[in-house]
Amino acid sequence: EVMSDIFDLTNVENKLKECLGLAEVIVVPGDSDEAPWVKKEMGRATVQLMKRYLAYEETKIVALTGGTTVAAVAEMMTPDSEMKETLFVPARGGLGEQVENQANTICATMATKAMGHYRLLHVPDQLSQDSYSSLMEEPKIKEILDLIRSANLVVHGIGEATTMAQRRSSSEEILQTLHEKQAVAEAFGYYFNQNGDIIHKVLTIGLQLEDVIKTKSVVAVAGGTSKAHAISAFMKQKTSNILVTDEGAAKALLELH
Ligand code: F6P
Repeated sequence: EVMSDIFDLTNVENKLKECLGLAEVIVVPGDSDEAPWVKKEMGRATVQLMKRYLAYEETKIVALTGGTTVAAVAEMMTPDSEMKETLFVPARGGLGEQVENQANTICATMATKAMGHYRLLHVPDQLSQDSYSSLMEEPKIKEILDLIRSANLVVHGIGEATTMAQRRSSSEEILQTLHEKQAVAEAFGYYFNQNGDIIHKVLTIGLQLEDVIKTKSVVAVAGGTSKAHAISAFMKQKTSNILVTDEGAAKALLELH
């Protein structure tokens, strides 16, 4: 029974890798929509994967996004020789998450558990164009932005567009735009339609999508049957090359493709 289940998931991983055009796909058993421990298993799998990828890097810099799934990765982090040399940084500034789900918080937690290092990015949510421009001129900010852009590993979440806009208490106007333009996915503060086109972007400093594309290893961690459409849409951007997901999302994704 157990052996055939494992074989089945390996099969799902290979099929997904092929149809999404990714370098690696890891599928953990279960559906995180239904069982909370499945998110922790995705976290555990991501930690193993991070250690494997970082082993090859001379300078080890990891950029992280916020969200409950990347928070689960931080929770499952354990120290080792690779991790002690790793610097953790947030990928982007304020995106309107609660403190425990903010990239900064997750960064500090993960670095502490890894016995590694971290640097934070203190930027308010909902920047005006003026404050955005002046922040970009701050030497301290410039310094950390350079570090963030030199990350060789990015670990990020993917969310369902409406869920994310509501979680961020976005304005009626934004909710309307997302509805009209049929947003289905969100990642890095960008919203996408089913074809993977960008239809809206949150103004904040840090990694822009064009920087993420240049990063060597980009790991998306997202699961639950309810996220299948969002994962499918975001993967059309070809920004991430690795996916850690669960059986629920994986099976729904295969039905979509
Ligand atoms: O807000 C940060 C973020 O990583 C979003 O880009 C993403 O859509 C969301 O969190 C995922 O959150 P969760 O893992 O809680 O579904």
